[in-house]
Amino acid sequence: MKLNKELEALLNNQINMELAASYQYQAMAAYFDERALEGFSKWMSEQSKEEVEHSNKFYNYVLKRNGKVEFFALDKPKMDFNSIKEVFEATLAHEEAVTASIENIHKLARELGDYGAEVFLNEFAEEQEEEEEQVQKIIDKIVSLDVDNNSATLYLLDKEMGTRE
Ligand SMILES: [Fe+2]
Repeated sequence: MKLNKELEALLNNQINMELAASYQYQAMAAYFDERALEGFSKWMSEQSKEEVEHSNKFYNYVLKRNGKVEFFALDKPKMDFNSIKEVFEATLAHEEAVTASIENIHKLARELGDYGAEVFLNEFAEEQEEEEEQVQKIIDKIVSLDVDNNSATLYLLDKEMGTRE
């Protein structure tokens, strides 16, 4: 099936959105590095790498469908935050926006009867549920351990965050 132009545009937008997420998460890693929070920084760097992988999957899919890949300019990421909680709330908001975008592409693929694109997108729908759940759990820990005001629990959570592979 020939790749529909509107669908191609949305897939290209998604390539850009995943790269923007990667850029933003690396900026958050820098925020943590400035505060000597190596575990949080490691977690964000890993998250950043994952987003590049997501972007590459969309990139390869556009090529596979004989489409044209289009790169956009990236906005400057947010570099300053008032708390660790704020960083992860921003992460969750970002992931929710990505989820909405993927759902939107999925909707168009369905309308077009592009079953192949639908199958390709299903993997991401599942991935996004996991991402959101994971980030929500971290926010819950940040709140329940009060890590923004407690250096002992901050130290412990930073260690735990650093175990991410
Ligand atoms: Fe992603």
